[in-house]
Amino acid sequence: MRDNSKFVGYLFEVAWILPSVAIPIVLFVSVVITAFAVGIRVPTDVGRVDPQALAQTAPFDNPGIREMAPGVYEATVIAQVFMFTPNSIEVPLGSKVTFTLTSRDVVHGFKIEGTDVNGMVVPGQITKVTATFRRPGEYLIVCHEYCGGGHQAMFGKVIVK
Ligand code: CUA
Repeated sequence: MRDNSKFVGYLFEVAWILPSVAIPIVLFVSVVITAFAVGIRVPTDVGRVDPQALAQTAPFDNPGIREMAPGVYEATVIAQVFMFTPNSIEVPLGSKVTFTLTSRDVVHGFKIEGTDVNGMVVPGQITKVTATFRRPGEYLIVCHEYCGGGHQAMFGKVIVK
C-alpha cells in the first residue's frame, strides 16, 4: 500500500517535471524559428549619432524618403517632442521601406499600425526597422512611449498607393 502511493507520487512529480522542461524548450525553439526562419527580430541598434548634431550628420541632415532601387525605399525619420519629421511618407504599393530613426530629445516610440514595425527611438542611437506595404491605404505611425505632455498628439502616417 505504502509503496503504491509512493509510485503514484512519482507519477505526479514526473507529470509536472516534463511540462516544466518541455515548455521552455518549445518557447526557445519558437524564438529561434521566428528569428532565423521567419526573420522576425528586435529593431537593431545600428550605430550612434550625436542628437545635438543631427543637422550636420547624414542621413539625418536630410530626413525624408529615398528610392534606392525599384520598390526599395529608405526613409530617414527624426522623432522629437511631439512630431515625426517627415510626418507623412508616400510609397507605391508593394514597396519595401527601411526606416532609419533617431530622436532629437527624449525616448520616443515608433509603431506602424498593421505592420510588425515597433521600435524604440532613443536619442544618441540609430534604430532601423523594415516593412513591406502590401495593402493600399494609410498606415498610422504612433509614438507609443510616453514622452511628455503632447505624447498623445505625436503621430505620422505612411500612405501606400
Ligand atoms: Cu513621442 Cu510619445
